[in-house]
Parts: sequence; structure tokens; C-alpha cells
Amino acid sequence: MPKTIGFTYDVAADSPTEGKPFSDVHAEFDSQSTIDFVKAAIETAGYKVILIGNLNNLLKMLPDLKVDIIFNLCEGLGSRNREAQVPVILETFGIPYVGSDGLTMSLTLDKIMAKKIFASEKIPTPRYIGIDSLDDLINLDHMNFPMIVKLRHEGTSKGLSKKSVVYNHKELENQAKNLFSIYGTQPLLIEELIAGMEFTVPLIGNDPVEALPSVQVAIKNNVDLKDTIYTFDLVYDPGVEYICPSRIDKELEDKLRDLAVRTYKAVDCRDFGRVDFRVDHNNNPYVLEINPLPSLSPEDAFNLSPQAAGYDYNKAISKIIDAAFKRYGIN
Ligand SMILES: Nc1ncnc2c1ncn2[C@@H]1O[C@H](COP(=O)(O)OP(=O)(O)O)[C@@H](O)[C@H]1O
Ligand SMILES: [Mg+2]
Repeated sequence: MPKTIGFTYDVAADSPTEGKPFSDVHAEFDSQSTIDFVKAAIETAGYKVILIGNLNNLLKMLPDLKVDIIFNLCEGLGSRNREAQVPVILETFGIPYVGSDGLTMSLTLDKIMAKKIFASEKIPTPRYIGIDSLDDLINLDHMNFPMIVKLRHEGTSKGLSKKSVVYNHKELENQAKNLFSIYGTQPLLIEELIAGMEFTVPLIGNDPVEALPSVQVAIKNNVDLKDTIYTFDLVYDPGVEYICPSRIDKELEDKLRDLAVRTYKAVDCRDFGRVDFRVDHNNNPYVLEINPLPSLSPEDAFNLSPQAAGYDYNKAISKIIDAAFKRYGIN
């Protein structure tokens, strides 16, 4: 009998925006085509798939749900604990699941909490301050302009535009004011801007963890992005290109992969994840964030990078599932 995998995920069509004032409410959600792609890969690996969908569907189906494991891609809605909601419920009901647990989801979604862990593990990350209101825009003496103003717990470049890069105190204050007015009371993370190249490193497995080949970001054919950032309006822009293998020497490639593994372990990431980097003009890498729920879209790193490592997307998904089964001792 093939094992049965329940599949939890969020697609925009299942969650009305309820008149929210900004257009990026569902930016983190998967497209239906990504879900179809993942489902096909799970089936190719020899499993039976039960489509569940979002948290509401899961709660309705729970009483009668018979699965060996859940493949969880739910982003959730709301607080910095939104990605933890499904893992914690599954844990409560004793249902095994693929991917990180609630603690890791919340810890990493909150970029400031994650940076505190990076600092304690000596993982390089840009200098920063967190602010809850404009009154906190003091004590910036340890930081140099240009800086970047980000939301503390968002993903998918939400809240990032050209105005996010600020070159003086006035611009910083204006952009902070702007974000508070759009996103309410969400605290902000202000970081030193790392001018240079950008990479992301996908990882699979637990013991051992495999760091896959890094993927390099080019914008309008440039890999030296200087002070350009990956803004929200670039997410679907054809001017953004992912290059894999990256056009860098082995020394930097090894450094990125090694740091990616250390970051993954530092936050107890499980089964799969992805670490985002900037590298300055002296080849110093800085970890921006770790994503325990990275995009599995065929256009993204989890498709490109396995190919450079010598296997395909389907194999990557099957390795992720194998890692989870092994962790639970399920054969
Ligand atoms: N400190 C920084 N220096 C340079 N670019 C940055 C910095 N922080 C973020 N960026 C840019 O903004 C993008 C999104 O930032 P990131 O922290 O990865 O948040 P998200 O969760 O939205 O992906 C990055 O891919 C990068 O282009
Ligand atoms: Mg990122």
C-alpha cells in the first residue's frame, strides 16, 4: 500500500481579502500552478495525495483524516505566528508533518528575533535597529547610511519599494512614517544596506543537511546589484533572473553554503529551507533571513538549484519527504 500524504497549503482563491487597504495581502500565498506542481511531484515519488488546503479546511477534515504525514506549505494569515498555526495544530493531534515546527516558523518570520539568534551564533547579518514608533528613531550612531527600512515580520518583499533604501535621516523618517501608515503598528527593522551581490541557498535534510548550489540574483542583467534591492514590484518582473550555478569562485560558494547550514541549524530548521544573502564588495556574505517555508514554485530556487546538483525538482520533493519520514522513524 502506498503511503498517504495530506497536503496543506494556502492559495489566494480560498481567502477573501476582506477589503484590506493594501494590495499584497496574499503575496506569500502559493499560486494554484505551484500547488499542482508539488502535488504531481509527491505522486511521482509514489505517494497518494489528499488535498486539504488551508487551516479552515484542515480543521473541518481533522476528525476523519487518515494520513501517514502532512506536507505543509500553509503560510497562514495574521500575526508573526501565522506560519506556526498549522504545525502546532498537527502537533496537538499527533499527526506527523513535513517541515519546520511552530517555534522555528515564528522565530524566523520575525526577522529581529532571528537576527538575535544569528548574533549569538556569530552568523554575520547586517547591523540593525528595531523600532515600534517614530520616537525610537534615535541611537543610530552604530549604523551607516544607506539603510533599508523593512517590516519586521513579512516576506515576499512585502512593503519594499525603491523608497525603502534611505540615504539620510529625513528619508528614513519619511519611509518609516509611510510604512506605519500603511501597515498599522507592525514594528520595523532598519538595517544597513549591503551593496553588492545577492544569493539564496536552498537546503534539504536534517542529519546530514545538504546545502544545494547557491542561486544568484541578477536584475536587468547585472549581478552587482549595488544598492538596488529586490522590491515587491520586481517579484513578477522579467528583468529579474536567477542564475545557477552562481558566477562566483569556489571559495565564496563554499562560504555561502557553509553559512547556510549554520543558519539552518541555528534556528532548528527541518527537512527543507532557504537562506537569503547579500555579499558586499569585499566578498563578505551577510545573512538577511532564513525561510523555513520557501517558495516551491517551478520558477524559483528549489527547481533551479537541484538541477545544478544533478537531480530534478521531483527528486528534491521526494528527498524532503524522505527526510521527514526518517525524522519520525517511519519506514
Ligand atoms: N540589509 C540589506 N541590504 C541589501 N539589500 C537588502 C537588505 N535587506 C533586504 N534587502 C533586499 O530586500 C529583499 C527582501 O529582503 P528580505 O530580508 O529577504 O525579506 P523578504 O522576507 O521580503 O524576502 C532582499 O532580497 C534584498 O534584495
Ligand atoms: Mg527574502
